[in-house]
Amino acid sequence: MSMTEQRSSQWYAGDDRNAYIHRAWMRRGLPQHAFDGRPHIAIANTASDLTPCNAHFDEVAASVKQGVYEAGGIPVNLPVVSLGETLMRPTAMLWRNMAAMATEELFRGNPIDGVVLLGGCDKTIPALLMAAASVDLPAVVVPGGPMLTGTFRGRPLGCGTDVWRLSEETRAGSLSQEQFARSESSMIRSRGHCNTMGTASTMGLLAEALGMVIPGLAGTPAPDSRLLAASHESGRLAVDLVRQDRRPSSILTRAAFHNAIVALAAIGGSTNAVVHLLAIAGRLGITLNLDDIDHIGAEVPLLVDLQPAGRFLMEDLHRAGGLRPVLREVRDLLDATARTVTGGLLVDGLDEAEIWDTEVIRRRAAPIRECAGIAVLRGNLAPSGAVIKPAAASPELLRHRGRAVVFDSIEDMNARIDSPELDVDADSVLVLRGCGPRGYPGMPEVANMPLPRKLLERGVRDMVRICDGRMSGTAYGTVVLHVAPEAAAGGPLALVRTGDPIVLDVEARTIDVDIEQAELDRRSPPAELTDALADPARGWERLYVDHVMQADTGADLDFLRGSTGDRVSRESH
Ligand code: FES
Repeated sequence: MSMTEQRSSQWYAGDDRNAYIHRAWMRRGLPQHAFDGRPHIAIANTASDLTPCNAHFDEVAASVKQGVYEAGGIPVNLPVVSLGETLMRPTAMLWRNMAAMATEELFRGNPIDGVVLLGGCDKTIPALLMAAASVDLPAVVVPGGPMLTGTFRGRPLGCGTDVWRLSEETRAGSLSQEQFARSESSMIRSRGHCNTMGTASTMGLLAEALGMVIPGLAGTPAPDSRLLAASHESGRLAVDLVRQDRRPSSILTRAAFHNAIVALAAIGGSTNAVVHLLAIAGRLGITLNLDDIDHIGAEVPLLVDLQPAGRFLMEDLHRAGGLRPVLREVRDLLDATARTVTGGLLVDGLDEAEIWDTEVIRRRAAPIRECAGIAVLRGNLAPSGAVIKPAAASPELLRHRGRAVVFDSIEDMNARIDSPELDVDADSVLVLRGCGPRGYPGMPEVANMPLPRKLLERGVRDMVRICDGRMSGTAYGTVVLHVAPEAAAGGPLALVRTGDPIVLDVEARTIDVDIEQAELDRRSPPAELTDALADPARGWERLYVDHVMQADTGADLDFLRGSTGDRVSRESH
């Protein structure tokens, strides 16, 4: 490809003053031939000390750089917005769209021909993919990988999942406060993201199922030297992607999303993936809705026995063979037309993918569960839909009727959940509202609300819970979440009162409050709920609250849907 054919040549080619300025300011060690028409590859780097899951990305980026150079390209480090799941308040999800928007503009506004996306912690891969989809420059993802397995008192610790378990055991009195504190230093053994099948693990694997990762790479633990070798290879590939003009829009097709939904069910992935897949598809103009998630996933067996629903951790999945043999087992359910960044088909070479431990990855003939997809519920509580992950729920609660115990905010729940006076029993249905995209704002991971202490002490370990927020991918329980429309957007969840009978029937895909519609029509939302509505005066929150869409369409901003491409129409110099 000649100089004039590269996008970066719009900045660097020619003899005029502008080209001189662009080249001169980049000539800090770059040789003259860096501007002779080679592809310039941005390494979108989410390394940050405040995103501990991604803190190793500078080393990963160094390997990517070597690969780019080796293939004849010029690598440029591009730090982008990084979101640390555990630290950012009130919730990292509030900024997923901001990270995607800022990254999109950085891609478009800079002299680059292709991008390597370094993501790990929950929101980082979704935001990077949303950005890449909207700019549609050649792109490849390097998932940063999970941490190694830590142990406590001889038992492996699932990062995230065991935090919930240990804290519930402490609240129930079966673990001392001192022991709980001691487990803290055992939880995080190494660099890398959470090691359960949480959102980060899920999105890394789904990025590969979507075709955006070198096949076989996703799930490689962060400290594994093979991650660096694959990062080098990804750098080489990025240069090739530019030369072949292979763009995300040719990879992220409807077939790719079909395969991601199949993979999501087979690995027992996080419910958060539903929101992220819908948002990424929205950037590409692909029609994908909640019903697709339910229908495509419905026949898929659960094959991966990982926490939070199962026993093992990501290091075990990698040892057992990773995603490829999982895909081989469900090959007949995949769309065989989907392509990957390599230019080949996702199904190419699947026959050679071996399972090395059938406890961790089950064979199709002996699944953990026959039908593992995330179920989409509708009814007078969720006219636009809600989701539940049956694989993480208690089977006996999937069909349930119980009295509502309603909380109007997280603060309300925290204040009353452990009160001895709380009128609740094991059959009650806990309802938490005011936690949707607009209402909180940011749709935090609170749907798996803690159980009332007095029930925990009686041995109750799960209850039906309903919320317009999200749930951590590392959490478990019979939780109906992403209720849409949310209470703050006029959803009927706002009209439920404590004592109302709630009926959940996952097989029938329904979630209802069993009272007359006329009675619902007579009710209005409680003042506490509307008074608490966020009304930020300025900044990102103002923009977010004014434009965020509901969970059933991916909670993107309404004006960010679709793609603008890589074209820059004006130049200021
Ligand atoms: Fe980063 Fe869990 S906190 S992946």
